[in-house]
Amino acid sequence: MASVLVFGATGVAGIYIVNALVAAKPSFPRLGIFTSQNTVDTKGELIQRLKGEGVHVHVGDVGSDEDVLAAYKDYDTIVHAAGRNAILSQIGLLRLAEQSPQIKRFLPSEYGTDIEYSPASANEKPHQLKLKVRAYIQEHVKRVQHTYVVTGPYAEMALTRMPPAVEAVGSFDVHAKKATLLGSGDEPVSYTTMPDLGRFVVATLLHPEPVRNRAIRVNSFTTTAHDVLAEFEKQTSAKWSVSHTSLEELKKLEKVAWESDKPFATVYTLRRIWVEGGTLYKERDNALVGCEDSETLTTLVERVIRTQTDERAGGQL
Ligand SMILES: NC(=O)c1ccc[n+]([C@@H]2O[C@H](COP(=O)([O-])OP(=O)(O)OC[C@H]3O[C@@H](n4cnc5c(N)ncnc54)[C@H](OP(=O)(O)O)[C@@H]3O)[C@@H](O)[C@H]2O)c1
Repeated sequence: MASVLVFGATGVAGIYIVNALVAAKPSFPRLGIFTSQNTVDTKGELIQRLKGEGVHVHVGDVGSDEDVLAAYKDYDTIVHAAGRNAILSQIGLLRLAEQSPQIKRFLPSEYGTDIEYSPASANEKPHQLKLKVRAYIQEHVKRVQHTYVVTGPYAEMALTRMPPAVEAVGSFDVHAKKATLLGSGDEPVSYTTMPDLGRFVVATLLHPEPVRNRAIRVNSFTTTAHDVLAEFEKQTSAKWSVSHTSLEELKKLEKVAWESDKPFATVYTLRRIWVEGGTLYKERDNALVGCEDSETLTTLVERVIRTQTDERAGGQL
């Protein structure tokens, strides 16, 4: 049974991972998070909730060997969920893990689009930092085992309502009953819901052998933009107004965004990859980690409708 220390635990992905670990707590004798004083100060309520659930909170500087080694003492498994900008901070942590005999496994921050899907993946800008981490592991991490959990896009984010300035990147607006679909609308894409992301990470931790030192490709369901739209229309009992952003238009928007150094450029690139088929596999690896029972499009659309309705009621839209 693994004792697990999570980095990036209060982030967008990290909190789903921590919540799933807490839910599976009897399988993990010790759960901890490593976080900064700034996060403790700014996310006090969440930190208190986690403490109340028996999660040990280690506060320190992720760049300090001393702080990290002190936290590593009590764990054998590291789960990392650093955000895109902090991906390279994992290299120091991997170096320290390799030097710490009690650390047996490290799950690097992946949880997204496959960065080694095809030869073209090597040139995709958003993949570069994660590729560097994989290269470091290949070259320097010999004793500590790793698994790259590749989930494809989060369904909640793909089915969200985008602000008007960027809705060409794909948008589902429940109140306006308006959607912008990518490509022809018929391209299949494999998605993972965020609760399933947490379950997949837990399942990966519970099945170390079949997933030792490799990437696994897991997802909740595969669907098309037209099927998503049909589900929204069914559940809202209304016909939606629809526009499309063709693959060619998406590529143009992507190019302009990178040329003008917009942070949003990453989103255009990832969505172009999805439309091009970069989330599809002959076989997914859910069975390898005993996780065939995933969420469905129907459940997800119900949740998106509820979330957007609540946001509107709360004045956030
Ligand atoms: N599949 C998808 O659609 C999708 C979507 C979004 C993200 N992702 C992936 O999920 C992973 C996590 O992304 P995210 O969006 O959840 O990240 P995030 O919310 O931006 O950040 C996650 C955490 O990273 C830590 N962090 C921030 N700056 C740091 C720094 N300078 N040094 C060390 N740690 C730092 C913080 O940890 P504390 O909690 O300790 O403050 C933060 O909460 C990434 O690999 C990302 O590519 C996938």
